[in-house]
Amino acid sequence: MLMELNSQAAIAQPGHFYAVGVGPGAPDLLTLRAARLIESAGVIVAPRSERSDESLALAAIRDLIGEQEVIENIYPMERDRERTEQCWRTVAEQVAERCARGLAVVQVTIGDPLIYSTSAYLIEALLDGLMPRERVHAVPGISAFQVAAARFIDPLTIQEDRLMLMPATDMEAVASALDRCETLVLYKVGPRLKALAALFRERGLLGQARLACRAEQGEGESYLQDLTGDLPGELGYMSIVIVRVGRKEWR
Ligand SMILES: C[S@@+](CC[C@H](N)C(=O)[O-])C[C@H]1O[C@@H](n2cnc3c(N)ncnc32)[C@H](O)[C@@H]1O
Repeated sequence: MLMELNSQAAIAQPGHFYAVGVGPGAPDLLTLRAARLIESAGVIVAPRSERSDESLALAAIRDLIGEQEVIENIYPMERDRERTEQCWRTVAEQVAERCARGLAVVQVTIGDPLIYSTSAYLIEALLDGLMPRERVHAVPGISAFQVAAARFIDPLTIQEDRLMLMPATDMEAVASALDRCETLVLYKVGPRLKALAALFRERGLLGQARLACRAEQGEGESYLQDLTGDLPGELGYMSIVIVRVGRKEWR
């Protein structure tokens, strides 16, 4: 059965919620749709982790902020399901209350709202009895893997290649993924670069592994074309690795 999907309005509609991807951070990598929704919203919700001083998403759209109410919500970074759900339930109640008053609410999030994003928690909490599905929308943004690939001018896939995206948090899972795709994208690299490099060395992949840190975020932005040389000591949270494992044979 075909599902009727939410129509996307050019401007934010009263009583609706939009999870809007704002891209990696550079203001000119924001989509026109995202910009129109942000400008026309009554309320902007901007997530900020308890470990950082500012919301990256908010910094990316600073020029579009005028009269909108801005709610900066601080969310926990540790893996505590109860605390995380409670935090997003509270934000969802604030969103639903404003939508019920006829305001349009936009949550801004770095990259794409459906790829490793806090938007997933907020959408889940809203759809859990607070708002009807037809008033909840997701607007795509340019994700980190697209920005990094563009910087290296490396095709991510060609012909029948398989592309996998995963966090670099479980080294066994990363090792097994290398056997099952032609390109592997690793989010959340942070402190695991050395362990990843050791694994790639074993597989003869150091020359095909690329690293992007704070891609398109200005300050602290850096790139490594391969991991064969000296590696940086401490990597921040905003780092991603792309490994071109091989090319799938044409059948
Ligand atoms: C919470 S996820 C956000 C992902 C985001 N929704 C997206 O689509 O790109 C955070 C992870 O995304 C990656 N990331 C996001 N933006 C990045 C950037 N500009 N440069 C490098 N890595 C980035 C990093 O791996 C980071 O640990």
